[in-house]
Amino acid sequence: MAHQKLVDNWGRPINYLRLAITDRCNLRCFYCMPEEGIKYLPKQALLTYEEMERLVSIFCQLGIEKIRITGGEPFVRKDLVPFLYRLAETEGLQTINITTNGLLTAQYLDDLKQIGVKSVNLSLDTLDQDRFKQITRRDEFEKVYETLIKLVDHGFDTKINMVVMPGKNIEDILPMAALSLKMPVSVRFIEEMPFNGSTTDHYDLPWSSSRIIKEIEKEFPLQKITDPKHATASHYKIPGSLGNVGVIAAYTRTFCGSCNRVRLTAQGELRTCLYANHGLDLKTLLRADQSDQEISQAIINAINNRHKDGFEAEKSRNFSDNWESMSTIGG
Ligand code: GTP
Ligand code: 5AD
Ligand code: SF4
Repeated sequence: MAHQKLVDNWGRPINYLRLAITDRCNLRCFYCMPEEGIKYLPKQALLTYEEMERLVSIFCQLGIEKIRITGGEPFVRKDLVPFLYRLAETEGLQTINITTNGLLTAQYLDDLKQIGVKSVNLSLDTLDQDRFKQITRRDEFEKVYETLIKLVDHGFDTKINMVVMPGKNIEDILPMAALSLKMPVSVRFIEEMPFNGSTTDHYDLPWSSSRIIKEIEKEFPLQKITDPKHATASHYKIPGSLGNVGVIAAYTRTFCGSCNRVRLTAQGELRTCLYANHGLDLKTLLRADQSDQEISQAIINAINNRHKDGFEAEKSRNFSDNWESMSTIGG
């Protein structure tokens, strides 16, 4: 099948797929999951690696060039690395990036280099061991920090994702920003979203990206720098720093107009917006022996029916539903 360009019904080119490998995780970040009572999907409900490979190949024929591996925590699924080696061979696929919590990642860095992964996003919400334990409900700060050092030493383009939460890690904003002075990393401060498995039907964002910027400017001068095309983060530099800082308006949703991404959940649903809670069930199509052509057409139809932005997608949600855990959507 000829490689074609995917464009949605609002004229936005789509070339980026976020692929959730699993809904499982070895942390319990409270902004993402409840402490107990998480219902993990049974194995049969997850896409197999073979099914993912087939879908990725179809997506790449349609014009996807970049894949971000997400979860849950991708490295908790057995045999992720051999899968990534195979994935890297997909025709048309130019970039594989990973978002990880860093607990199991360090042992695979040489493999990731060989696979051609250039960029790794590390979820790290604090530089304080006690606060780490409070936020993730696990005492694993040191392991994640070691992974950060190793990522930088291995020359990965490394981004730190810190979700900003009142009462939890506001005191980390300045030390995190300061990390970009001495380390060549992008420190990204993320607006907290309500995707935590709760029933919240009203949500007030306490720390917007503009408030975060003001907080950093209390201590450091910030220069606006150019953002890569389609970036979710707005980037700044503290003069003289090795890295940079960014803010991600994940809840304010200022970047929807240039959104180039779709998501494939671990259970094989195509989500055309993070804020939509329903999608196209590709797993059922695969298991009903549909041809590549039929699956391609179903994907094209879904992309031709995208919401204009995250606010419109949110309106389409069924509000009696819980907000899902981010681990089931893939971030
Ligand atoms: P790159 O731009 O490729 O580095 O990745 P990313 O920033 O898109 O990915 P990452 O997995 O590191 O996500 C960082 C934060 O941005 C997370 O909190 C995501 O949930 C959020 N995010 C990613 N994509 C979207 C999106 O389409 N909409 C919204 N609202 N938030 C997003
Ligand atoms: N709000 C904002 N970001 C979140 N993430 C997970 N849950 C939330 C939330 N409720 C982030 C993680 C990870 C990325 C994929 O999504 O920090 O880095
Ligand atoms: Fe795990 Fe990521 Fe969710 Fe934290 S945000 S519990 S690391 S899936």
